[in-house]
Amino acid sequence: MSKTPVTVLGLGDMGTALARALLEGGHPTTVWNRTAAKAEALATEGALTAATAGEAVAASRLVVVCLLDYDSVRQVLSPLGEALAGRTVVNLTNGTPRQARDLAAWAAGHGAEYIDGGIMAVPPMIGTPAAFLLYSGSPAAFAAHRSVLDLFGESHHLGEDHGRAPLYDLALLSAMYGMFSGVLHAYALVRSDGVAAGDVAPLLGRWLTAMSGAVDGYAQRIDSGDHATGVVSTIAMQSAAFGNFTGSARDQGISPELIAPIGALMARRVAAGHGHEDLTGLVELLTA
Ligand SMILES: NC(=O)c1ccc[n+]([C@@H]2O[C@H](COP(=O)([O-])OP(=O)(O)OC[C@H]3O[C@@H](n4cnc5c(N)ncnc54)[C@H](OP(=O)(O)O)[C@@H]3O)[C@@H](O)[C@H]2O)c1
Repeated sequence: MSKTPVTVLGLGDMGTALARALLEGGHPTTVWNRTAAKAEALATEGALTAATAGEAVAASRLVVVCLLDYDSVRQVLSPLGEALAGRTVVNLTNGTPRQARDLAAWAAGHGAEYIDGGIMAVPPMIGTPAAFLLYSGSPAAFAAHRSVLDLFGESHHLGEDHGRAPLYDLALLSAMYGMFSGVLHAYALVRSDGVAAGDVAPLLGRWLTAMSGAVDGYAQRIDSGDHATGVVSTIAMQSAAFGNFTGSARDQGISPELIAPIGALMARRVAAGHGHEDLTGLVELLTA
């Protein structure tokens, strides 16, 4: 059976990886990029190149969009208007839940199905078992195109609300940035004492892997609102130690700006009488 033709709008690092996965999956793939030269390599691999976004959209009923941000998506899609009618747009551009819902309403107004997505991978991971992607929007449209989307990585459909995929995407990326902030601070700290980052890396990796085990238990505390039962590392204890983080940064001449905020939150929570609780209690300060 012939494979579904797919159009890809946007050939940055990620769009190129997506288009390549489609080509490897045997799909007739039409590509467009604002800077046309970025399509040249894919053309030698079998992609059909379109001179305009309109021409690219006309080539396929399934249109994958992967641009820098929603402003660029709007700039590219808005002039196309009715040309999108009857097509399914899968937008894998990073954005907010509100942006996704607004774009979904705009697409519906132009007779297009719209699926929003978030990519939990870097470009070299696309098409490998390490990649997973989040989707939300019409379950029927997702089911119709799932076999194509599975070429990018493991697909997770999170429901009809178009805001759900970017919500999860931003949540997962927020946790990643928290981890990366700590890693950068750790390396700055050891470097300030003449220790190479590479000397610490094996133990740091081991420590982060061990601590990632807290994710499920934290979720249970936050969902139940019980931050106090069976606590093994109270906020009071952690807050008392936190002065050493800012103190060592000061002594070693490095900025504490990546880690200081959580110390301030701990101090506030202890001052409010919650020192006996787990670190999870900080979430109440964030949502108050
Ligand atoms: N790379 C990653 O690790 C990664 C991982 C997960 C998710 N993502 C998300 O995937 C999306 C694309 O990322 P990327 O890595 O491919 O970024 P990128 O390499 O910087 O590419 C950006 C793309 O957007 C296009 N673009 C920017 N402004 C435009 C405009 N006003 N009109 C038309 N096209 C415009 C660029 O076209 P030109 O070539 O003409 O500049 C290019 O195709 C982003 O939303 C990103 O957050 C990326």
